[in-house]
Amino acid sequence: MSAARQTIFVTGATGLVGSRLCESLVAGGHRVLAHRRDLGSEPASGPNLTWLSGDLLRRGDWQDALADADAVVHLAGAPVAEGRWTRARKNELRASRIASTEQIVFSLARAARPAAVFLCASASGYYGARGEERLDERSPAGDDFLAALCVEWEAAALGAREAGVRVACLRFGAILSRRGGALARMLPAFRLGLGGRLGPGDRYFPWLHEADAVGLIEWAIQPGGSAEGAVNAVAPEAVRMGEWARCLGRVLGRSARLPLPGVALRLALGERGPALVPGQFIEPRAALEMGYGFRHPRLEGALSDLLR
Ligand SMILES: NC(=O)c1ccc[n+]([C@@H]2O[C@H](COP(=O)([O-])OP(=O)(O)OC[C@H]3O[C@@H](n4cnc5c(N)ncnc54)[C@H](OP(=O)(O)O)[C@@H]3O)[C@@H](O)[C@H]2O)c1
Repeated sequence: MSAARQTIFVTGATGLVGSRLCESLVAGGHRVLAHRRDLGSEPASGPNLTWLSGDLLRRGDWQDALADADAVVHLAGAPVAEGRWTRARKNELRASRIASTEQIVFSLARAARPAAVFLCASASGYYGARGEERLDERSPAGDDFLAALCVEWEAAALGAREAGVRVACLRFGAILSRRGGALARMLPAFRLGLGGRLGPGDRYFPWLHEADAVGLIEWAIQPGGSAEGAVNAVAPEAVRMGEWARCLGRVLGRSARLPLPGVALRLALGERGPALVPGQFIEPRAALEMGYGFRHPRLEGALSDLLR
């Protein structure tokens, strides 16, 4: 990220991406205002890291801190891959993203000097299940629950433009990390040689190394940056689930021949099963055109980096 020191407000700072982002921003000399819902047992603040708490769905003191920031990064949201998608759960998934985004936009609109840039997470789920179709940021949204959620989430975020704020919505694919997410859930079975693809092997499975999740955010929020509107946050190499499973097996030195069939996937994961592996061939067109250099553009290199 650029050498100019910035004050950056980060929600979801305890999460998979947020925790790595905060570490990286602090290491880069920036001042981080890290938000979590509950301060709990005194997280360690430091000279460049201040922890804040409060309910993002309601007005509160956290909004005063946000008014001082040069950039706002909104990553908080109830985990999509946990629990069954009951009506109550769907309401939580929506409210934790959309109502919180609306509160952030409200804070930006009333700030005397609003942040220059608001980066809001979104997801590749925006596109729904699309088979072989090549998708970029100009492609229309899908028509399932996750797609509708992403459409509403991004629309709420784009409201900050009225306050003169540059807004970028990063549509993340599955973020690969050893510490959580899709890869971490698959690892135990693969390590025992029992792994395999999740559902039909011909479906594209958009992915991104965690270092590029952080890298894309830092690139998008840099002062004078050109990232604006939707940005696909997926690696350039599009890989089908079957290739994906074989590649993971290869990197681990284990076979990957036992597929989890779609029915078992649904029984195990409920409605979210297909949503986790929907089949999307997504290109990171905006990031590549605007010059972002992926650290891990290819799956084998990304998995080797994470697992060896
Ligand atoms: N990881 C992926 O593969 C992936 C893929 C596509 C999109 N995304 C999106 O990118 C964002 C960041 O992803 P992540 O993997 O870092 O997420 P994460 O690890 O699940 O962390 C999100 C943070 O949100 C907060 N949170 C949890 N439940 C909440 C609730 N009910 N209401 C409000 N806040 C809640 C938690 O922070 P506190 O409880 O400490 O406040 C948590 O640390 C998320 O919005 C996610 O949907 C991620």
